[in-house]
Amino acid sequence: MAHKLAIFNMKGGVGKSTSAYNLSTGLVRFHQKRVLLVDIDPQGHASAALGIPIWQIEKQLKDVLQRQVKIKDVILPTASGVDVAPSNILLAEEEIPISGLPGRELLLRKAIGAIANQYDYVLIDCPPNIGVFSVNALMASDAVLIPVDMSYLGLLGINGIERALSLVREQLDHPIDITGVLATRFDARNNLSKEVLKSLQDHFGSKVFQTLIPETVKLREAPSFSLSIFEHEPRGAGSKAYQDLVDEIIAIYE
Ligand SMILES: Nc1ncnc2c1ncn2[C@@H]1O[C@H](COP(=O)(O)OP(=O)(O)OP(=O)(O)O)[C@@H](O)[C@H]1O
Ligand SMILES: [Mg+2]
Repeated sequence: MAHKLAIFNMKGGVGKSTSAYNLSTGLVRFHQKRVLLVDIDPQGHASAALGIPIWQIEKQLKDVLQRQVKIKDVILPTASGVDVAPSNILLAEEEIPISGLPGRELLLRKAIGAIANQYDYVLIDCPPNIGVFSVNALMASDAVLIPVDMSYLGLLGINGIERALSLVREQLDHPIDITGVLATRFDARNNLSKEVLKSLQDHFGSKVFQTLIPETVKLREAPSFSLSIFEHEPRGAGSKAYQDLVDEIIAIYE
């Protein structure tokens, strides 16, 4: 049965999608894992970064959530070896109808249940909010990976993340765990990065990954070539960091 991880933070631009697609690729590339990336963000950034032409897809995750097709019928293979259940902006237009469906919090969990034994890891890239799509991602996952960017507002957002996880645990009765908190967009020349990291470590202790994801131009530009950081700059700092993260995840689960 697959390990199911939601890449979750309500704050935008913290590196959720960057982490989701590079981590997925790394699990395939370095550990030969079978990986499905579920893109439940209408921005479709993780799908696009893996080379999915998100404006040309015929079926997508919204059709699965609306119970019109099975998830296996929307999954596309990619050159990286990662399978993707893609989304685009049409998902956003269905947010209100999907919010009205019975069992609305469990739509994704039920869909993934049918194929979870075909993968070692299912990674779910969340949108930057706590609406019905993020709740579906959390309810479908065993644990969350929380990327936090090295900013004051990033730190301020921790409270909201913990409230959302409490809501899922207490109101929806789902014992979701935290796999780890990932320091992203780290700039070693900047005191703020060090201070935010220290606060994260004081708060989350050993749940903070040892790996720090640096802020690099190569990480920023890799999606425009539909390449993971491992192909775009194999010997760079971003590539080393995401490979270290992959190894930390493997050490946790295997
Ligand atoms: N470590 C990094 N170094 C440089 N640029 C980065 C890094 N991580 C992310 N970025 C860039 O910052 C922007 C936001 O990153 P990303 O899309 O991964 O964040 P996100 O949390 O998924 O955003 P959203 O909340 O909108 O989904 C993108 O342009 C991305 O390329
Ligand atoms: Mg994103």
